[in-house]
Amino acid sequence: MDAETIVKEYYVARKGTNSIKWDILEEAYGKPDLLPLWVADMDFQTCPAVLQALRKRVDHGAFGYSVVPDSFYEAFGAWERQYGYEPPKDVIRFSAGVVTMLYRLVRCFTEPGDSVLILTPVYYPFRKAIEENGRAAVQVDLREEGSRFVIDYEAVERAVAERQVKMTILCSPHNPVGRVFTEEELTELLRIFARRGVLVISDEIHQDFHFDGHTQHCFVGVRDRLREAGERMPEVIALTAPSKTFNLAALGFSLAMMPDEGPRAVYDTYMKALGEPGVDVLAATAAEAAYRHGAEWLEGVKSVIIGNHRRIRKRLAAECPKVRIMDLEGTYLPFLDLRSVVDVAHPSKPPVRIAGSETNADMADLVQNRAGLAVDYGEWFGRNFAGFIRLNLATHPDIVDEAVTRLVKAICD
Ligand SMILES: Cc1ncc(COP(=O)(O)O)c(C=O)c1O
Repeated sequence: MDAETIVKEYYVARKGTNSIKWDILEEAYGKPDLLPLWVADMDFQTCPAVLQALRKRVDHGAFGYSVVPDSFYEAFGAWERQYGYEPPKDVIRFSAGVVTMLYRLVRCFTEPGDSVLILTPVYYPFRKAIEENGRAAVQVDLREEGSRFVIDYEAVERAVAERQVKMTILCSPHNPVGRVFTEEELTELLRIFARRGVLVISDEIHQDFHFDGHTQHCFVGVRDRLREAGERMPEVIALTAPSKTFNLAALGFSLAMMPDEGPRAVYDTYMKALGEPGVDVLAATAAEAAYRHGAEWLEGVKSVIIGNHRRIRKRLAAECPKVRIMDLEGTYLPFLDLRSVVDVAHPSKPPVRIAGSETNADMADLVQNRAGLAVDYGEWFGRNFAGFIRLNLATHPDIVDEAVTRLVKAICD
């Protein structure tokens, strides 16, 4: 499918549909009329095959206890093959969301007080999953290199050693810096974690958004190849879901790939004690249809996203070169650098609370009071990243254009 078809046939107005992104602006930002580019879901209907499969399942009308069929595992395995790892059925575990699984894994594999490493700026529930369970979040900043961020391996190795890190939660592709890590970068990280016996949790929920020749690699596949070549390697758990890719977040479905027998057994024992329910039948139905038939629709959505990114970059260069948009190798959530517009090191007022998080008041003044936008602010993702905002490009190009127009006007007027 092409971008035009997606925009014309799949864009849907979501205001008034109990959408978090569109309908809780008053609660989250204190203003009901902002243009929302925050929550990471899409303003597009999911692919037609998913709707068809759901309708068929709903029409059947009986929703008794169900299993996940073998056909699901086949479809998911075949989809994952493109990232260099085809998970067999017995290594897969389910949850109602990746964040839910992160909380479980923190509790399951670490003790209160243990150190868990994250590469900041990063999706803030990582830090919350660690800290809300009484563990210590060891934050190592990614390093800015031109219009992208790179990993500071020395800082990682130092932090792992000094803080006796037990586990790391990585984001690959990385939200919010938009990086798709290369095989070399993943290898370097794996070697550091192997030397120090750190369990690697890799959140690959954005795996299907990789652009312009940036190849996405599943951590497990890279690890297995290095292990087969004789290298000592760490244990790895990779997480993913069809929710970002196919706009299915509210169905509550995600997957963990646990290839290593040791952690898998520990996890299974832990879960036995919780008495959690099985997988939602509609979610599993939607996921299988998406993985089986969704590729063509997804190509169209990706064209819209990368088109939106190019438009922003072009317009900012022409109309407001002080504002920089970082590269978008992956995800649909680019970081925008406003540090040359707002002096975040010397705020004129104390921070304000937005969506439950402390936010630089001068940034909030510019972005939400003057430009009328609801976005995620840089410091939510890492303490040293005030002055950045994160945008959501999985929407109509007119909305993106309107956001740029408002921002440019707020800065230049
Ligand atoms: C990196 C990352 N992990 C997890 C999630 C949320 O996943 P879930 O809705 O399955 O909990 C998001 C949503 O933005 C995300 O960006």
